[in-house]
Amino acid sequence: MKPLALELPVRTDTKKVYIETYGCQMNTSDSEIVLSVMNRDGYQPTDDIAAADVIFLNTCSIRDNAEQRIHGRLTNIIYYKRRNPKLVVGVLGCMAERVRKDLLKEGSVVDVVVGPDQYRALPELVGEALFGSKGLAVKLSRVETYDDIIPLRTDGISAWLSVMRGCDKFCTFCVVPFTRGRERSRSLESIVDEVRDLAAHNFREVTLLGQNVNSYISDGHDFADLLAAVADVDPRIRVRYTTSHPQDMSDKLIETMVSRGNICKYIHLPVQSGSNRVLELMNRTYTAEHYLERVAKIRELLPGASLSTDIIAGFPTETEEDHQRTLRLIEQVEYDGAYTFKYSPRENTRAWAMGDTVEEKVKGRRLQEIIDLQRDISSRNNQSLVGTIEDVLVDGPSKKDEHEWKGRTDTNKVVIFPRGDEEIGEYVRIKIRKATAATLFGNPVDAEGREKWVPLELLATS
Ligand code: 5AD
Ligand code: SF4
Repeated sequence: MKPLALELPVRTDTKKVYIETYGCQMNTSDSEIVLSVMNRDGYQPTDDIAAADVIFLNTCSIRDNAEQRIHGRLTNIIYYKRRNPKLVVGVLGCMAERVRKDLLKEGSVVDVVVGPDQYRALPELVGEALFGSKGLAVKLSRVETYDDIIPLRTDGISAWLSVMRGCDKFCTFCVVPFTRGRERSRSLESIVDEVRDLAAHNFREVTLLGQNVNSYISDGHDFADLLAAVADVDPRIRVRYTTSHPQDMSDKLIETMVSRGNICKYIHLPVQSGSNRVLELMNRTYTAEHYLERVAKIRELLPGASLSTDIIAGFPTETEEDHQRTLRLIEQVEYDGAYTFKYSPRENTRAWAMGDTVEEKVKGRRLQEIIDLQRDISSRNNQSLVGTIEDVLVDGPSKKDEHEWKGRTDTNKVVIFPRGDEEIGEYVRIKIRKATAATLFGNPVDAEGREKWVPLELLATS
């Protein structure tokens, strides 16, 4: 891992910290804050777990299987602790907040347990752990935004940038309001300053992050104001954001997206279910009709925009009819992608008390029907792009073949094309010639839209 010195100088002492990140992009962004806090205390990031003096797992609690993975990983880490008894192991993030002191039980490999609002305490807790005392810091804060901490980012062209933390929505299935606490936003000025810094370091894409990013509010500035201010920093920087709540998807926000060419025409808008009865039980605060009205507004003002969503299959009491409504909504919206999950009961949430009423087999079948339908729609949507020309930001070699580049369109679709003399971070015009449900394939074209010469053997490989 190559640290980027946004804040000079990055300390280069010999103590090493290794961090493994699970779950959402908020965690990815938090891990960069953790590395920055640790770096101030003389720790260098490493991606070699065997060389680390400190191992952190930045965890996710959203579904039970996410937590089970972490338990499994902690069992593997015993091996490193046996080899190096001075090794400090920390569990950070949502699972630290939810499971707390149980993670430190007698005989556990874990030394420190630190929740999402307590990362400033990490150096002190790690220091104490070196002298044998286990540490727990899980207090949630109403004000902590890490506004003054410049994340230690890995080199690249795309940056995550947290603009608000926490969630006040309290969907009945979700642990996030309990693990990440109340909503609070960073100041607009400090966010804009950070984006200026990113521009100066040749970043080409920034994604504004928040659990409910569009409920951002700071000193009278709402999310649309923030988005406009960030987009105005540098027209060569693409601006994305995630995750939006349908209730806060205002006309002003959509109009702001129209007004700036560098705000990507891509919106992740979780719907969760197409049934009003289920939406009510989930406390989502909107109906399917309201959601579809917002989608219609997006389609009207932002033609060609790409939409994706999150869907839960098998919420308590979900009937076949509720499920059919979800399928129908998916057909109506014609999403470009969907993250789909089986409902996972989480202790202490309101849905926990509703039981886990949908049989596992039925949940699995409904989930599969959702996945199959969405795959057909994604494939159809992508087919319709064959023959069009897209502006693609090159983000690196394709995983399958180093003779090919991988990049993304404004609408967040992956495009593969033959590698010429382009560079990472460059925008290239690509004519799409083939599409699958997940990927577009094309060739570079010149300013007049004519395909550049591409060696035949490269065409054959893509
Ligand atoms: N079970 C299944 N999926 C869940 N999500 C949140 N909580 C649960 C749960 N208990 C999903 C939602 C959310 C996404 C991040 O995770 O779809 O939008
Ligand atoms: Fe969880 Fe709902 Fe908040 Fe999203 S909006 S983090 S699903 S409570």
